[in-house]
Amino acid sequence: MAEIAKIEVNGTTYEFPIITGTENEKAIDIKTLRGVTGGVTTIDPGYKNTGSCESGITFLNGEQGILRYRGYSIEELAEKADFLEVAYLLIFGELPNKEELDKFHSDIKDQSVVDEDIKKIVDAFPKNAHPMGVLSSLTSALTSFNPKSVDVDSEEEIYKAVVKILGKFPVLVAWTMRKNQGLPFRYSDSSLGYIENILKMMFKKPGEKYIQNPVIVNALDKLLILHADHEQNCSTSTVRIVGSSHAGLFASISAGISALWGPLHGGANQAVLEMLAGIQEDGGDTAKYMAKAKDKNDPFRLMGFGHRVYKNFDPRAKIIKVSADEVLADLGIADPILDIAEGLEREALNDDYFVSRKLYPNVDFYSGIIYRAMGIPTEMFTVMFALGRLPGWIAQWKEMRVRKEPIGRPRQIYVGENLRSFVPVEKR
Ligand code: SDX
Repeated sequence: MAEIAKIEVNGTTYEFPIITGTENEKAIDIKTLRGVTGGVTTIDPGYKNTGSCESGITFLNGEQGILRYRGYSIEELAEKADFLEVAYLLIFGELPNKEELDKFHSDIKDQSVVDEDIKKIVDAFPKNAHPMGVLSSLTSALTSFNPKSVDVDSEEEIYKAVVKILGKFPVLVAWTMRKNQGLPFRYSDSSLGYIENILKMMFKKPGEKYIQNPVIVNALDKLLILHADHEQNCSTSTVRIVGSSHAGLFASISAGISALWGPLHGGANQAVLEMLAGIQEDGGDTAKYMAKAKDKNDPFRLMGFGHRVYKNFDPRAKIIKVSADEVLADLGIADPILDIAEGLEREALNDDYFVSRKLYPNVDFYSGIIYRAMGIPTEMFTVMFALGRLPGWIAQWKEMRVRKEPIGRPRQIYVGENLRSFVPVEKR
């Protein structure tokens, strides 16, 4: 017996089907609402109660702190898989076998050459340009060098577009960082693994041999896995809605990068480090900043805390915190910033303001501490988030296009002026 929801409008009761997902999430299907009610719609700023699509990619349960990619728990994937396996899983729906994974990596390597003219675009930016603005522009520029739009009815064409962006994006990330540091650009090294190649392009100094540190390789691989997808978050919803107009994959991802940049979203990892450094400079008085975070008249928020969906610990934050401790210990770094972070966490978890609002550390609270320990500049932290989120954006764009979802075009409630006549300027 199909479940139904009843909505009464102006004395008339309307029935709408309730759909149930594979994890028993329920939603009222209001696709016919405006038509049957003669124009009545819903309104839900920030879409806190509104689903935009049915998706089979990522499941998360905010109350229980559950996160799964294609049914696999984030804990298992972070421990047992590598980033390319997870990227393949998210995009194509299944974990690859050895042959598929080797071919995937080989095809990605074949696509890791970036047109030399991209360098002219990078050079045009001022050195202090924010890396997220550079990365978004370079990603959009990829369209100029790959103008043919993807035929989403062709699995082969989709596969080619996927390996193309997975091959070129790390080069754009590395060149963005090298530009910021005034260092020469390095090319992809096809003799290396995916993560090792990224690290070498980012960190190899001219005239020096670059020695891979397995602790850093493993930590970055895990961080990218933990950031790989997160269902309909702000930047992913941006990628989907831009792609719903049939804009290309690169253009859609470029838009997602801009959405991720915001300090309330992916930009929070940079904001967390800036906040912690600010507290340290101000004498490390965490109680003062806890009070500021709770003061409604103070715009200060505890960056890295709270989440739209997680009303329990962000499962990624738990894994990243363990990794942060391991990386700092392995590298022999005693970072006072970490002590301040742990102090804030301890105080917040025992403070009614945070507990009552279910504000826990999120994915961004500890990730910046690892990136800092790895020698990544603070302004590059959100670029690293984008590097991890890329497979998720691809998977979600592909799902939306293959399922031929309609163009995204929300309604509104108009609250402006009613009809009035034009007044010539001499009479105003
Ligand atoms: C990411 O959506 C995703 O999945 C995102 C992400 C992903 O993987 O894609 O998980 C990545 O973006 C993580 C979030 C990173 N952002 C931050 O760390 C920035 C700090 N956090 C907040 O800005 C906030 O918690 C949000 C934006 C994350 C969530 O905001 P909501 O869901 O809109 O909640 P809200 O702003 O309505 O807050 C509810 C209450 C308010 O107080 P009251 O009005 O009830 O008195 O909690 C308070 C807020 O003032 N609050 C905070 C707070 N976050 C919420 N107070 C102090 N410090 C904070 N960080």
